[in-house]
Amino acid sequence: METSIAESFENGTVFITGSTGFLGKMLTEKLLRSCPVDSIAILVRSKKGLSASQRVKEIYKQSLFDRLRNEKPDFMESIKVIDGHLEESSMGLSSSDREWLIENVNFVFHCAATIKFNEPLELASKINIQGTEHVMTLASQMKNLKGFVHVSTAYSHCPRSEIREEFYQVPITAKELKNRFVDKELNTNISQDWPNTYTFTKAITENMILTNGNHLPISIFRPSIIGCTKSEPEPGWLENMNGPTGLVTGVMVGFLRTVPNIGSNITDIIPADYTVNALISVMWDTVNRHKQSNGVSFEEPKIYNYVSCVESPLTWGRYIREMHDQYYVAPPLQSMWYGFYIFYTNLIIGSILRFFLHRIPGAFMDLMLILCGKSPKMLRMYKKTENMIDLLYDFATKQWTFDNSNSRELWSSLSKDDREMFQFSLEDFDWKSYIKSYYYGIRRHILHEDLNNVEKASSKNQMLLWLHQACMVLIVYILLQLCWILITFLF
Ligand SMILES: NC(=O)c1ccc[n+]([C@@H]2O[C@H](COP(=O)([O-])OP(=O)(O)OC[C@H]3O[C@@H](n4cnc5c(N)ncnc54)[C@H](OP(=O)(O)O)[C@@H]3O)[C@@H](O)[C@H]2O)c1
Repeated sequence: METSIAESFENGTVFITGSTGFLGKMLTEKLLRSCPVDSIAILVRSKKGLSASQRVKEIYKQSLFDRLRNEKPDFMESIKVIDGHLEESSMGLSSSDREWLIENVNFVFHCAATIKFNEPLELASKINIQGTEHVMTLASQMKNLKGFVHVSTAYSHCPRSEIREEFYQVPITAKELKNRFVDKELNTNISQDWPNTYTFTKAITENMILTNGNHLPISIFRPSIIGCTKSEPEPGWLENMNGPTGLVTGVMVGFLRTVPNIGSNITDIIPADYTVNALISVMWDTVNRHKQSNGVSFEEPKIYNYVSCVESPLTWGRYIREMHDQYYVAPPLQSMWYGFYIFYTNLIIGSILRFFLHRIPGAFMDLMLILCGKSPKMLRMYKKTENMIDLLYDFATKQWTFDNSNSRELWSSLSKDDREMFQFSLEDFDWKSYIKSYYYGIRRHILHEDLNNVEKASSKNQMLLWLHQACMVLIVYILLQLCWILITFLF
C-alpha cells in the first residue's frame, strides 16, 4: 500500500531553495506543520547587511508562522540554515554544509529564482538556468535522494497559445547561451519571442533539465499566478504586490485611475496554500514513481501544470468587480483619492488617459511635497507602476489553453485524508469568498490596516467621493465651455 503524503516525509531531510520568498516560506511552514520531517535545510544568502541566520530569525517572526508557533513552539530546532546562493557552481557553500547536504538530504524543492520580468538576461540566466544546474549537480551527489521538484512557471512557454504538460523546443540550449555570454557574442534577438527574461530563462531551464536530469528522480511543477491563501495558515495571507495584487492595490488607494481593458480575459490566479499543497503532492508522486521504477531513471521528467482556468476560470472583470464590492464596505484609510478607474483598449488613448489622470495630478502632488519641504516622489512612482503594468500587459491581454491532466490525475490518486490535508483541486472553486479574503488580505498585509478603522475610513471615503464628483462636474463644465467657445469661433 502506498504511504500517505505526510508519512512519505517521515524522518526525512528536506532541502529548500528560495525559502525566504513567498512560495518557499509557505512551503516550509506547511511541511513543518503537517509532515513529520526530521529537518529542513534552507539555502539563504546574506542580504542588505544581514547574515543568512539573522535574516531567517526575522522572517520566522512573521505572522505567517503564528499558527506553527502555536502548534509546534520548538519548530526552529528543525531548521538548518545553509548560507549560500545560486550563482556560483559551489553555491558559496562551506565544505561542511556541502558534506552535510550530500549525506542527509532526501527531498529537494528548488523554488529559488529571480522573478523580475526585466532582469538583465545575463543575471536572469545565472540565477535561473545556471543556478538550477548547480542545485542539480549537488543533488546528483546526494546519497539518499528520493525526489527533486523544480518549480517553473505555467508561462515558461508563453509564446505558444496551447501549453500542455510537455517539453517544448527552445531557440538555444543552456550551454550555448552560457558560451555566448563568455564570448560576449549574445544576439539579443535570441529571446525575442518571449515577453521578458524571466519566462525565457525558465523555458531554457526546463530544456536543460530534460537534457541533464535523467539520472535524477526529478519533476517540474508549473504554477500560474500565485495569489493569497484560501485558508491556510490563515485566509488572505500574502506579502507582495506582484501581478494582479499590485493592480488592485493601486486602484484601492486611488493611485491608479486608468488600467488596460482586460475584463473578459482570464486571469489564472491560484491560491498560495493550494499551490503549496500541489507542490508537496508532486514530490510525493515523484518519490513513488521513482520507487516503482526501482531506481531506474525515468525516460523523461514529468511536468505538472497547476492552473485554475481549466476547472474554474476567473475573468479579470469578475476579479476587479468583486474586489470593488469589498472596497465599498471597507475602503482603506490611507486612500489618496476615491477609488475609480477608466479602462482603455487602445494604447494611444491609454497614454492620453495616463497623462491626465496620473501625470498631471502626480506633478501637482509633487509640487505640494516640494512646497512642504519634502522630496517629490509621485511622478517617479507613476513611472515605475506604469512600467510594471506595461510588463504585465502581455499576460493580461493574451489567452492560453492549458492542459493540466497530470495535476488532475494526481488529485484523483490522493486518499480522502490526503485530500483533506493537501487540498489543491480547483473544481467548483468558491471565487467569491476567495476574492473577499484577498481584499481583506491586501488591506491587512500590504496596507497594514486592521478592521478597527473601517468607520473612519468610510467617512474619509465619502468625502473623497464628494471631492471626486466635484472635480468631475468641474471638468465637464470646462469641457462644455471649451466646446462652446469652439462652436462660436467656427460659426
Ligand atoms: N509568485 C508567483 O506568482 C509564481 C508563479 C509561478 C511560478 N513561480 C515560481 O515560484 C518560485 C518562487 O517564486 P516566489 O513568488 O516565491 O518568488 P520570490 O518571493 O521572489 O522568492 C524568490 C526566492 O528565490 C531566492 N533567490 C533569488 N535569487 C537567488 C540567488 N541568486 N541565490 C539564492 N536564492 C535566490 C530569493 O532569496 P532572497 O530572499 O535572498 O532574495 C527568494 O527566497 C520561482 O521559481 C517562481 O518562478 C512563482
